[in-house]
Amino acid sequence: MSKTVLVIKWAVFILIFITSSALCQYDMVEIDNSVFGDPARPPSVFEHDAHNENAGLDECNICHHVYEDGKKLEYESSEDMYCSDCHSVKSENGSPSLRKAFHMNCKGCHLEQKAGPVLCGECHRK
Ligand code: HEC
Ligand code: HEC
Ligand code: HEC
Ligand code: HEC
Repeated sequence: MSKTVLVIKWAVFILIFITSSALCQYDMVEIDNSVFGDPARPPSVFEHDAHNENAGLDECNICHHVYEDGKKLEYESSEDMYCSDCHSVKSENGSPSLRKAFHMNCKGCHLEQKAGPVLCGECHRK
């Protein structure tokens, strides 16, 4: 194999690696709170992949859900969307406000499973 072909192969490989990891956000360590405009608290800690692995959460739609006529669709997932695409900062259309949606989802499960933080400063740390 010629040297140029090898160099091109490596360049393509590295390019694919960089773009795919940027799209997947495997490095997410906290929740982006910029939609709140002037957030009162530091963003909540959330190491996406490590969190879900430690907590044993295999189904993406435990969090990334889709509803139709008030019913959660068992096999649908909305992982390509932000929570704020459906839950606005001010509550409307019967779905909980963004802040409430986050708190119900995160704290709700932590309380239910008696694992994971429930105090303000344990999530909004820094
Ligand atoms: C289990 C984690 C968790 C706990 C516990 C928690 N929050 Fe949050 N909270 C979040 C997440 C996630 C958001 C979404 C944006 C972010 O990360 O700040 C949020 C958003 C907010 C917001 C709207 C954004 C802002 O900063 O203005 C406020 C206010 C807030 N929380 C206050 C509180 C208070 C007060 C408590 C304690 C009574 C609390 N939170 C406990 C996870 C948590
Ligand atoms: C414990 C809840 C939870 C589980 C389970 C979960 N996620 Fe997430 N995920 C989140 C939250 C919260 C965000 C941040 C959403 C936001 O900022 O609005 C997020 C963000 C993402 C993003 C980035 C979205 C973006 O806009 O950049 C992707 C991709 C993603 N999740 C994929 C997945 C996949 C795939 C699974 C299943 C293997 C999964 N998630 C399971 C809570 C979860
Ligand atoms: C495609 C739109 C959509 C997306 C994206 C979405 N939600 Fe929802 N969610 C809804 C609707 C609609 C309801 C109201 C269901 C009802 O009670 O009728 C709801 C209800 C909820 C509830 C209350 C019911 C329950 O399941 O406990 C919580 C909590 C919640 N969402 C959190 C979140 C979080 C956190 C995210 C992001 C990880 C998210 N949602 C993403 C549409 C969405
Ligand atoms: C369906 C259940 C479930 C949901 C939803 C959930 N968690 Fe957790 N979380 C857990 C469990 C279980 C643990 C404890 C895991 C362990 O023992 O290591 C945990 C631990 C944590 C921890 C402590 C570990 C660490 O990384 O520092 C943080 C912070 C946390 N969760 C934040 C969040 C936030 C923020 C959300 C909402 C976006 C959320 N969790 C949603 C189940 C859940």
